[in-house]
Amino acid sequence: MVGAGGFIGSHLVPALLERFACQVDAVDVDLTKLECWDPRVRRIEARVEAPGLVEDVTERCQVVISLTALCNPAQYSTIPLEVIDASFTHLLPLVKRCAERAVRLIHFSTAEVYGRTALDGQGLPTARMHEDDSCFLLGPVGRERWTYSCAKQLLERVIWAHGQHGALPFTIIRPFNTIGARMDFLPGIDGEGTPRVLACFMSALLRGEPLPLVGGGAQRRAFMDVSDMVEAVCRVLERPKQSRGQIFNIGNPDNNVSIAELARLLADAFAERLPERAPAQFRAVSAAEFYGPGYDDTQERIPDVQKAQRLLGWKPQRRLATSLPPIVHDYVERYGARVAAASSLSQLA
Ligand code: UGA
Repeated sequence: MVGAGGFIGSHLVPALLERFACQVDAVDVDLTKLECWDPRVRRIEARVEAPGLVEDVTERCQVVISLTALCNPAQYSTIPLEVIDASFTHLLPLVKRCAERAVRLIHFSTAEVYGRTALDGQGLPTARMHEDDSCFLLGPVGRERWTYSCAKQLLERVIWAHGQHGALPFTIIRPFNTIGARMDFLPGIDGEGTPRVLACFMSALLRGEPLPLVGGGAQRRAFMDVSDMVEAVCRVLERPKQSRGQIFNIGNPDNNVSIAELARLLADAFAERLPERAPAQFRAVSAAEFYGPGYDDTQERIPDVQKAQRLLGWKPQRRLATSLPPIVHDYVERYGARVAAASSLSQLA
């Protein structure tokens, strides 16, 4: 598993060990989040482009799960070249070697490939995004937001071509706004920059700052609990025939909420967990102020998950009302003391 130390990888590794008689080569530059010390895990702290790594994993492993990416929108318009390298250039040798050795590849792409909105064959917007029918709508090149989407789409096309015209047994997963404990980082605590929305909101709540709603927060996302993602990957592994050569949307259309609603739900869960805190506040902020130039957005992103249901027998289970309280609890436990220490230090300075 490359990217085993990231948010999804750190949930997936222990689940795979529990479910399958397997060994896992866990590769990442940083494995801190992978709090799993099972002897069946070989921890490899390395970059995916490190010399010899691709050779080694494709020789040793029956299945490669590829998760590495720079997937925070704030990065797409600030470090676009690194984003293209991480999403495309550095993964190309891995894909090629898997194809040459016919090693099964389960590759994580992104819901971002659909762009601003999905279109039908006539070019009209569709309510749901469909793996095999939707056309993609990206913004102009100057809108660097779409750098990531474009790089990920190109790698999907490379993988697809190796499957169609060669011997690569592949499955592509397009995750839709997966959330859970250990997502991204908290700025100033264990990372720098702007993480994705869940971590931004948890950072604001823990610091007692207003939650920033970009453009007012009317844009919508369908959020999915990471446990549903883990189950989907297990089903893909268990069903190699049904999943070979397929692209799957993995998301939860029933959890489609506006960003302002997500902020309110998280604030409510936080108030339940820490009732002594002052009530949360919210502030509208412009996209230019929050992300700088080159940002663009998707107003709504709802997956069609019928194919995953049909071929994998998978259906997302967890609604936001049950997902959010344990996530908030984990952030409070993991970060509460560190955020308080950082705030008192900055007051002293
Ligand atoms: C991101 C990535 O680009 C995708 O690759 C990835 O698949 C997806 O997250 C995901 O989590 O699966 P996006 O949903 O736009 O896409 O990223 P977020 O940073 O989570 O933002 C969601 C929405 O919240 C955006 O409209 C953003 O403007 C807004 N936002 C973000 C706020 O209103 N406040 C914040 O503090 C942060």
